Amino acid sequence: MKPVITIHWEDCPQKTGMNTGNFEILDHQLSAGTKGLLFNGDAVKTIEYLKENDIRLDFVYMDPPFGKNKKFTGRNREMEYTDKSPDEILSLLYMVFSGLKGIMNPKGSIVVHLDNVLGASVRLLMDYIFSPENFRNQIIWSYKSGGRATRSYPKKYDILLWYSMNKREWFFNSEESVTESTKCLECGQKLGRNHMKTVALDNNKKVRVIKSAGKTYYYDAEKHPLLTDVWNDISHLHQLDPERTGYPTQKPYNLLKRLLKIHVPPGGAVGDFFCGSGTSLVAASESGFRWIGADINPDACDVAWKRILKIEGESVSEVDRFILR
Ligand SMILES: C[S@@+](CC[C@H](N)C(=O)[O-])C[C@H]1O[C@@H](n2cnc3c(N)ncnc32)[C@H](O)[C@@H]1O
Repeated sequence: MKPVITIHWEDCPQKTGMNTGNFEILDHQLSAGTKGLLFNGDAVKTIEYLKENDIRLDFVYMDPPFGKNKKFTGRNREMEYTDKSPDEILSLLYMVFSGLKGIMNPKGSIVVHLDNVLGASVRLLMDYIFSPENFRNQIIWSYKSGGRATRSYPKKYDILLWYSMNKREWFFNSEESVTESTKCLECGQKLGRNHMKTVALDNNKKVRVIKSAGKTYYYDAEKHPLLTDVWNDISHLHQLDPERTGYPTQKPYNLLKRLLKIHVPPGGAVGDFFCGSGTSLVAASESGFRWIGADINPDACDVAWKRILKIEGESVSEVDRFILR
């Protein structure tokens, strides 16, 4: 695969006013194996642009602002962005989802990362746009960090809503849908199999046995336990986590790596139109997938770009990112 290539500012049709030729550049570069494109622009506009250029994606992860109507400030207060009201986010997502329908491959999937504020409303919106038949899972990502509420239960999870693009077929790499450890990294508890006995069969194969409701179930002892829709083995980024870039609301690399391994076909293309510090783009780049990222905040694009440069090294020293206004 070629190193990351971005379209130079001069090639941007919005700037030059030339519509012919520039589209070809984008199309040609993507089909020629370009790994990634980073747009400093609005999610809806970026999606429209991809549609005009007939660019298709296999998987979209997005972690939009959570509708908390407040300012998010990063470590050392050097970077921030302002969240919007729940209504504003829902209107924005309505346009984003409607646009995505036109750029997804038929076996593609969309995963939207939310918390309790908008989780229920966005699910209804996605049902409306993508159909309830295409709802596949609501993944609960639970973690230990965060506040200690005293007047209600402390909120300790985010929601990942997964929709496929059709109800019959979607890409899902079940081989990768396993926990890497039988132990929860944070809580130290055993996951899944703590109540199973291991026995050897006549052919020496080891299986784990569990009895439930009068039935006996056997599991291959050599294989990792399957992931369920509750993930509690990936930690939130702690204040001093070396992975932290200083960009507020940055998500853990391991969360994105897991999602991409399961949902993106070999050589597939990943989109993230609220990419922030670029965690999904970094995970895509390191896993050998192509990617398209966008964020309206130039600070976010700077951080994301620097992270990408670290992976791709010298090969991208003279590139510029694509500015879409
Ligand atoms: C929750 S953060 C994403 C964090 C990211 N997942 C990470 O790991 O760093 C949401 C991002 O959406 C961006 N954003 C807000 N409105 C946008 C819009 N209309 N188009 C594109 N990006 C937008 C914000 O600038 C912010 O960086």
